[in-house]
Amino acid sequence: MIEEIAAYIQNRIKDLHPDTGLILGSGLGDVANSIKDQIVIPYTEIPNFPRSTVAGHKGMMVIGKIHNHTVVCLQGRFHLYEGHNPQVINTAIEVLKVLGIKQLIVTNAAGSLNIDFEPGSIMMISDHINFSSRSPLVGPNEEQFGPRFPSMLKAYSPKLRNRMRHIAALLDITLHEGVYAMVLGPNFETPAEIRAFKILGGDAVGMSTVPEVICAARCKIEVIGLSVITNYGSGMTLDPLSHEETLMQSQKASADLTRLILEFLKD
Ligand code: HPA
Repeated sequence: MIEEIAAYIQNRIKDLHPDTGLILGSGLGDVANSIKDQIVIPYTEIPNFPRSTVAGHKGMMVIGKIHNHTVVCLQGRFHLYEGHNPQVINTAIEVLKVLGIKQLIVTNAAGSLNIDFEPGSIMMISDHINFSSRSPLVGPNEEQFGPRFPSMLKAYSPKLRNRMRHIAALLDITLHEGVYAMVLGPNFETPAEIRAFKILGGDAVGMSTVPEVICAARCKIEVIGLSVITNYGSGMTLDPLSHEETLMQSQKASADLTRLILEFLKD
């Protein structure tokens, strides 16, 4: 099935050979506007490809050029809280792998667990903690894509992170670095959960990214993960959280995020 999905896409994009994957989070789709000579394929047109449902997520694949890279962008991702079987995320990543990508850039909106990581700023993910207790790798293992028990030691590429650090300095953009704690959602956390995640080593909390990164690490795709901090975790301030507020703050940092990614792809 993976090969069939990839073959359908390859047929639509003809002689393009993607080397970079992009998965963009809530309200962070702007980078896709910089893709030149775009070919847009709605997920609904791709046989056997999963559908995306949440507000603010578009559900299409955008393929084209950014500088010298051929990128394939999943504009709209698959959240476990939508009720997707976690394996659909593995499907999406394996399709990208067959299409030829070597590196994956993932972005998300996240809540801050670290008082120094203020809303509107960006955190590069150095590592994660999977509090969702779900893995997209549960089920039969296709050995051609990776081992049954893949290592997560370098899930967030030290090499790419190093490069991104230099780029942030060059562009004079503050880039925090820390641990992303994934929860299943869709409810926001309780104040007690936020306190617990802080103690356990998290710097930011969100409802995505980890499944994609687990799949990418397994099939040896280098990952860079960027979180836009949209709010402090529940109970760290007095305001209750809303999806609207999350979207608003992410638009502010989205411009910086776009600059970072575009510069990153200049190499
Ligand atoms: N918690 C979980 N996910 C999020 C948050 C949060 O506070 N903000 C944005 N995504």
